[in-house]
Amino acid sequence: MKRRLIDRIQDRAWREVGGILATKPEIREDGGAAGREASVSGTMDWVELCSEFGEGRLGSRNFRRISGVRDVVETVGPVDGSFYAGRVRQWAPEWLQNSKVHEIDSWGQPIKWPGFLLGAGRSFSPTTLRYLATALWLKKEGYVTQGSEIIEIGVGFGGLAAMNGLISDVVTHLVDLPPVERAAMRMLDEHELGKFGRHSSDQEISSDAAIISNYAFTELNKAAQEEYFERYIRKSKHGAIVSNSDIFASSIQGRTNDELLEWFQKGGLPARIERTNDLLGPGDDLCRVCMIRW
Ligand SMILES: C[S@@+](CC[C@H](N)C(=O)[O-])C[C@H]1O[C@@H](n2cnc3c(N)ncnc32)[C@H](O)[C@@H]1O
Repeated sequence: MKRRLIDRIQDRAWREVGGILATKPEIREDGGAAGREASVSGTMDWVELCSEFGEGRLGSRNFRRISGVRDVVETVGPVDGSFYAGRVRQWAPEWLQNSKVHEIDSWGQPIKWPGFLLGAGRSFSPTTLRYLATALWLKKEGYVTQGSEIIEIGVGFGGLAAMNGLISDVVTHLVDLPPVERAAMRMLDEHELGKFGRHSSDQEISSDAAIISNYAFTELNKAAQEEYFERYIRKSKHGAIVSNSDIFASSIQGRTNDELLEWFQKGGLPARIERTNDLLGPGDDLCRVCMIRW
């Protein structure tokens, strides 16, 4: 697909600005905690940064500007940002004006893009717009209802959990490596949204809880996928996995989309694959990202 010149210019400018504004604090190497080699991001600086932040040795100021965070989670560029802003305008534009959304957006001082280019009325981190659009989509599609619970596999710094709490009053069971769960809990606490987060060690989960995993379950190897399938997915009624397995399955020794689909269906889930839908943006299209949902 041929990309528009303005899109190419914006993405190039985003990369240049990111290169100038990104930071790189000193971090302690923890020598590789158990289970980290099971995923694409597990052995990256991201996990150490979460350790430092979750244990209070690193502040939240500039957290989203750190290159190790931008490599894994703060990843959305301006073209996709304007796609997500368009979705939010379509589904619930009032959230673009919401002061709590602005507070979450500014947390960690992410690099923002001007509102007139995003079509968002004010500057935003494009990644925040993805979380906001995703939370609205989960609500629109009935995956969450007011006060329900969701299990998120691979939570990043908790941006989606914060939006789900704010928009739908939803409790998120945060399933990630322990340092990442602690970092996401700290982020929620800093916004007084801590009541919307639970650690994965908390066994009490509603039987109606839906599963969500964006760019995460499909970055795991087969053994880790099996563990989460048995623990959470097999018994779930609904779920959505944004799958980048076309990119990562072979290098991490995970499953292809077809293998995932067959496995889920054999396990009794009415799963289907969507190559296009309302939440998949232009970057997803370029990277052959799809959605597996049931
Ligand atoms: C590309 S990030 C996506 C984060 C988030 N879903 C988002 O959309 O911004 C991949 C996530 O998978 C997490 N992860 C890595 N290893 C994991 C594991 N063994 N179990 C659960 N999550 C893991 C990372 O810590 C990170 O939060």
